Amino acid sequence: HRIDNEKKDLLAKTVLFYNKTLLSDYDIAHEARNYLQQRGIFLEHIKKWQLGLCLGSHELGRKVEKSLVPADSLLELGLIKKSRHHNGFYDFFHDRIIIPIVGHDGHFVALSGRIWLQNTAHKLKELPKYINSPESAIFSKSNILFNFYSALQSIVSYGFVIIVEGYMDCMALVNAGVSNTVAVMGTSLTSPHMEALSKVTKRILICFDSDKAGQNAVKRSFTMAYPFSGVELECLLLPNGKDPDEFIKMYGAEAFRELIPQSVPLLNQVCRWLFDEAEMKSELFLRLIKEHILPIILQHPDERVQEEALSFLCDKYFENVYPRDLRLEMDGLTALQP
Ligand code: UTP
Ligand code: MN
Ligand code: MN
Ligand code: MN
Ligand code: MN
Repeated sequence: HRIDNEKKDLLAKTVLFYNKTLLSDYDIAHEARNYLQQRGIFLEHIKKWQLGLCLGSHELGRKVEKSLVPADSLLELGLIKKSRHHNGFYDFFHDRIIIPIVGHDGHFVALSGRIWLQNTAHKLKELPKYINSPESAIFSKSNILFNFYSALQSIVSYGFVIIVEGYMDCMALVNAGVSNTVAVMGTSLTSPHMEALSKVTKRILICFDSDKAGQNAVKRSFTMAYPFSGVELECLLLPNGKDPDEFIKMYGAEAFRELIPQSVPLLNQVCRWLFDEAEMKSELFLRLIKEHILPIILQHPDERVQEEALSFLCDKYFENVYPRDLRLEMDGLTALQP
């Protein structure tokens, strides 16, 4: 734990260092702030989220050479890499805007860096939009929700949490006053996420990007999260392929808030997608339900919830299929399990 704390300290120092750069007088820092401003992120937000800027590839490396910081720890944290060309180090996040990631204990655990320079070198290289600190003992995407620590109070007082995919979605919603928001950082909900969330709220609202990738992430989240007892999972679909950030840029935060009551239980949403996928072919739909839905319902520990789910399916989608038919199917699945 002592070692973890040292790492977290070093990370905190690095956050401060990059933050100072973003707030500096360099022309490039001006440009970066302009970029953020166009995205609705202003000075107050840069301070609130402690956003940063990593200029060239030799910012932290210089500090190492002056023996101001130990290379080993920076290497371990993935903040610098050994150069292949010369006998030194380069900043892993070079030329990126830095988004610090705070762990559930309130300490920095990782950084993310977003490309923003529109120069041809970056376009040609087809760099990933975001890069993140490597997974480590203190940081793992499947354990940590972005903004969870800061959102705790609001989640409790609103009585529900909104889960979005991305950093920008989370920051945009929080900046617009929807403070009970956390982000999964491009993955889907995992059981560690559910453990953490279910301790503070019983209502979980998934609001991922309304594109194919977002839909797949919602489906995966259903698989992981549905079997948790005592939580209500809901899904909010935004119109026109937008993500929450784009949505509130276009329609405002009020419009977002007004959409919240239109969210539907996650089970219903996933079934709806399967129904569309089956294109009115009821045989196919039944097969999809057996394949993708029944095994998940089966994992729910509460038999009453299972029965409700089966009744819902029959009422909503089938004329000649009854809950006990689906129950038999499910029991068949149980028998197959090792
Ligand atoms: P998106 O591709 O939807 O990006 O990825 P975004 O959040 O809308 O970002 P902007 O608005 O273009 O800036 C959703 C999330 O997936 C993770 C990030 O956490 C991102 O916020 N991601 C995405 C990565 O880690 N790496 C990537 O290259 C892309
Ligand atoms: Mn460079
Ligand atoms: Mn996306
Ligand atoms: Mn997005
Ligand atoms: Mn976006």
